[in-house]
Amino acid sequence: MRRITWAEYTALDVAQRIPFLAKDAAAEHEPFHVLYAQQFTRQMLDELCALADHIRRLHKTPEGAAFLQTLLPNRAALNLFAQPSTRTFMSFQAAEMRLGMQITDIRDMATSSQAKGESLQNSVRTFSSYVDLMVMRHPDRGAAELAAYEMNMAERRIPVINGGSGQDQHPTQALLDIYTLQKALDEIDGKKIAMVGDLLRGRTVRSLSYLMKNYKGVELFYVAPDRLRIGDDIKAFLKRQHIRYSELDNLEEIVPVVDAIYMTRIQWEWDKAAGATVGGEGQYDPRFVFRREYLDRMKKKSCLMHPLPKINEIDPELDYIEDPRIVYWRQERNGMWIRAALIARIFDVDKKIFSCRT
Ligand code: CP
Repeated sequence: MRRITWAEYTALDVAQRIPFLAKDAAAEHEPFHVLYAQQFTRQMLDELCALADHIRRLHKTPEGAAFLQTLLPNRAALNLFAQPSTRTFMSFQAAEMRLGMQITDIRDMATSSQAKGESLQNSVRTFSSYVDLMVMRHPDRGAAELAAYEMNMAERRIPVINGGSGQDQHPTQALLDIYTLQKALDEIDGKKIAMVGDLLRGRTVRSLSYLMKNYKGVELFYVAPDRLRIGDDIKAFLKRQHIRYSELDNLEEIVPVVDAIYMTRIQWEWDKAAGATVGGEGQYDPRFVFRREYLDRMKKKSCLMHPLPKINEIDPELDYIEDPRIVYWRQERNGMWIRAALIARIFDVDKKIFSCRT
C-alpha cells in the first residue's frame, strides 16, 4: 500500500481513495476498510447477498451453526459506538458471534483515554494492538476515514468498518437495504424506488442512492420537506451515472406507482445539536407519513422499508398487520446476515462457507 500524507489523501476524490481502502495492491477494489457505498460493485453485491443466504441457511441447523463458530475464533472485534445505536451495534455483535469471534465494545468515549486528551488517531492505533477488526459509529464526519487512514499507517493494519459517520454515509445499512430489496422484489434492475423523509441528513438514503449505480434502469423518487431535500452531491452523482430521479413533496401520489417505499425519520437531533428549539418530535407533516390506507394502494409485488428507528412516519397500526410487503422488521434482521457475510469476506473465509454443505 502506497503511503501518503493525510493532506494528500483528503485531496483525493472518493474514486481515487478506494484503492487505499483495499486489501492489497493486487486486489485494489476488494474492500478491506469499508467506508463508502461506492466501494461495492454489482458482482460484489450479488456475491455478498448469496453469501448471506448461505450463512443463514447454515445457521438453521446445529451442525451448520457449529461450523460457523469455527471460522474466526482467533479474531477479536471492537465495536466502537460513540453515537447512539441499537440495530447496527446489535447486528454487528450478533454477526461477529455467529462467526465465532471474540467481541469487545466502547459505547461512551468518556470512558476511554480520549477523555484525557488522547487523539482519535492514537486511540485507534492502540485498539489495533488488541483487536483484529474495528466497527465504528461516530458523530463526526470523516472519523471512520481518519481511523482507516491511521490503520494504513500503523504497524498492525486492521480493517475499519464505518457503522455510520456524521451525516455522511452508512454503507453497511445500504448493503442490508440492497439485500432486502432483492429478497422482496426478486430483482432491483428496472425498479422504481421512493425515499421519503429526512433526505438531507439521513446517511442511509445517501449510501443507498450511491449503490443504485450498480443496477440498470432504476428510477428514484425523493420525497422530502423543502428544507430536507436530498443533497446536491447525490443529485450530481445520479446525473453522472444516468440514473433517473425526481423530487416530490407528497408521498401519496406515488404510492401506487413505485415498487419500494423507503421511509425515514426526521432527524430532530441534528436541529437540537445546532441549537434550534425543536418542538415537533410528536408531530409529522402528513405528506411524509405512510398511512394505513396506503397499503391498499401499493402494488401487489412491492415493499415498505425503513432503516429504523421510526417515530411517527409510519402508521403504528402497520406493525400489527401481516402483509408480506411490510418488510422493515425483516430488513433489520437481514442486517445481521449481510454483516456476517461482509466480515467473512474481509477475513477470507467466504469460500470456506460456500464449500460447506452441512
Ligand atoms: N438503522 C440504524 O442505523 O439503526 P441504529 O441507529 O439503531 O443502529
